[in-house]
Amino acid sequence: MSAPPVRSSSVDRRRFLEYVWWGAGSAMAMALMPGSTLKAAHRFTNNPFTLGVASGDPTASGIVLWTRLAPEPADPTALGTATIPVHWRIARDDAMRRVVAQGTASAKAELAHSVHVEVKGLRAGADHFYQFHTGAEESTIGHFRTAPAHDEWARQLTFAVATCQDFPSGYYTAYRDMVQNDLDLVLHLGDYSYEYFIGGSNRTEGVDTAAPFNAETIDLHTYRLRHTLHKLDPDLQAAHAAFPFVVVWDDHEVQNDYSGLAPEWGSPSPEFSARRAAAYQAFYEHLPIRLSRALDPADELRIYRRLNYGRLAEFTMLDDRQYRTDNPCGDGESLRCAAALGDDYTMLGRRQERWVKEGLDDSRARWSIVGQQLLLAELEHLPYENERYWNDAWDGYPMARQRLLDAVVDERVRNPVFFTGDWHSTFVNDLKLDFKDPAAPTVATEFVTPAITTGGDDEPYGPYYRPMIPHNPHIRYYEGDRRGYMKTTVTKNQLQVDLRFVTSVVDPGATGYTERTFYVEDGTPGAVG
Ligand SMILES: [Fe+2]
Repeated sequence: MSAPPVRSSSVDRRRFLEYVWWGAGSAMAMALMPGSTLKAAHRFTNNPFTLGVASGDPTASGIVLWTRLAPEPADPTALGTATIPVHWRIARDDAMRRVVAQGTASAKAELAHSVHVEVKGLRAGADHFYQFHTGAEESTIGHFRTAPAHDEWARQLTFAVATCQDFPSGYYTAYRDMVQNDLDLVLHLGDYSYEYFIGGSNRTEGVDTAAPFNAETIDLHTYRLRHTLHKLDPDLQAAHAAFPFVVVWDDHEVQNDYSGLAPEWGSPSPEFSARRAAAYQAFYEHLPIRLSRALDPADELRIYRRLNYGRLAEFTMLDDRQYRTDNPCGDGESLRCAAALGDDYTMLGRRQERWVKEGLDDSRARWSIVGQQLLLAELEHLPYENERYWNDAWDGYPMARQRLLDAVVDERVRNPVFFTGDWHSTFVNDLKLDFKDPAAPTVATEFVTPAITTGGDDEPYGPYYRPMIPHNPHIRYYEGDRRGYMKTTVTKNQLQVDLRFVTSVVDPGATGYTERTFYVEDGTPGAVG
């Protein structure tokens, strides 16, 4: 998996933060001040809502609405430097008659004419519909449901978990299956966009993956094009329109297996810092994420955050990439080295680690759901070799993992359930403080969600990993050759996970099916099924 060469970029981190802070502030100000001066309505030759609409990070009273004006998707500069007013409305009905909030945001060239509206003051636990318009052009109508009020017990919460959607690997059949459900939200655990094509062109119809969308990702322009390519998919657009997403990035939004400011197989450099800043900016521009002012000067874009679903559930979304130190035992797969037993490396960064622990301590939720990127359970590469591990995952950061799981135990978290992305395989794992001891108690549950597409139909991971499973008895289930997503249904007494696989990602007429269902009972860590 070779990375493209790095070239210098003109993107400057401080400028990006100034743009987004000022941009978000002004969007909210515009909503409050009708009559503010903005450029007169733009005259479009094509409908500019080619990338669809999205909502994200629902709270009991708020939502983030997203769109991006892209009348010429292949040319992110098509609208020049104009700042363009975009009107938004939220209604309680899908005919958009009972409008409960509206305003005007400004789409600025500095942020690729993306629009992020951070709306407050909505009703808790309620269905809402939204739509954008600019000039004479209208977007499609999207839907979201706000979270229940802080002290409410929702009868049930339903969400999907997605990850790893390399575009040329195949069709987004998993999203077509997903939209047939009535979901409260979708957790996306990263590899939303890939910096290089993992699969050959397995798509034979629909969106063209040729130039300029296949350009090497080196700067803001090319990262924008790569996000645009993924966003052009009609099934992904339909899923965004149907449900709010809660998205975190993994490595491929920037570069394969990078760590903090260090590229894979390399050391920090101004070139990689600039490239990462460009990639983070493109991520923000294409996703419905709330902008929290960074408290940590090391933050380029803080994406770790917590979302509450009343008394029933709490979502803690982690960032396993931005703050971690370089792999103590090097990249790739290796024998565990002495440095892994030291205390001078981190996966989450000390500040995020403290934030996780404090959050677990304060939690009153029945179900503590953690969405994060990398395989948490140990996967010793026996029968091939004793003490051999994949260093990009938590296996490469074992003392950091120990601190995280110790925090779960120390804070007496009622029902800790981790959802993980990245591996292009499906796992159901018992998490333990000591994975070497089969008799050690299970302290939490991990579900590793399959890839939406990455790996395609013809790249089986099973033949390599399946022989390891009997040597790792805390792994209750493994499947490496199927793509899909997870559907989760949470009630007071039980968390249910349906493994929804698709029959193919190469056949455009493929369908989804439930392969297996697992259950976690309240008070009993570890899945059964
Ligand atoms: Fe991936």
